Amino acid sequence: MLDADRIPRHVAIIMDGNGRWAAAKGVPRLAGHNAGMKAMIEIVDRADKLGIKHLTVYAFSTENWKRSAEEVSGIFKLLIKYVQSELKKIMDNNVRIRILGDPSAIPQDALRSVEKAINDTADNTGLQFNIALNYGGRDDIRRAVSSIAEEVREGKISPEDITEDTISDRLYTGKEFTGCGDPELIIRTSGEERLSNVLLWQCAYSEFVFVDDLWPDFTPEKFEKAIEVYQNRNRRYGGR
Ligand code: FPP
Repeated sequence: MLDADRIPRHVAIIMDGNGRWAAAKGVPRLAGHNAGMKAMIEIVDRADKLGIKHLTVYAFSTENWKRSAEEVSGIFKLLIKYVQSELKKIMDNNVRIRILGDPSAIPQDALRSVEKAINDTADNTGLQFNIALNYGGRDDIRRAVSSIAEEVREGKISPEDITEDTISDRLYTGKEFTGCGDPELIIRTSGEERLSNVLLWQCAYSEFVFVDDLWPDFTPEKFEKAIEVYQNRNRRYGGR
């Protein structure tokens, strides 16, 4: 049973396995991503109902540009479709959409769609749904370091003043951006047990739960099971 009093504040998900799901069914990879989007919608709903404050999904990494042009443009078309079909429900549910990463490089129509979702939901106070788009953990740290170096150059701070918080605050998850902080739990589907450049600084104390299901098969019930695994692990170290 889930302990409603110990729901993690921030959960991040590496939604892996859309391609293998499609291959197993003998359908195009994009059909896998479409099924993945449907799974994502259900997980957002459940995260909201469970009272999770921040849900981050890894939708498109800085490395995903290496995929075929057709697949890349198909994923961004899905993003547009997602905003079109879900924005009303997202508003009704008081969900706020944010982006982790640098969306300026994504196709213009997808960018417009994302900006609309961000602007329309800016005052919503419920679940914050962070979509990692053109996000990479190393790039996140590089940007933070670069902005700190700039402030040192301008004489605003000195090197001795740099603390861990100085770095955390400047990451996409930091106070100066989305404010979602570090995830207590990171879930990866499809049986792969890697971080693949997600939230590298922020995962220092995260619990990892790896599940074998391919992402389109990941249901809200399986999501709750993963949170239960997290809660059971935490209980063991309850004294800490
Ligand atoms: C990983 O599966 C999935 C992605 C890189 C894309 C994630 C996209 C969605 C879940 C749907 C679209 C949602 C938005 C917000 C655009 P994979 O293709 O790496 O699977 P594989 O490892 O089996 O090939």
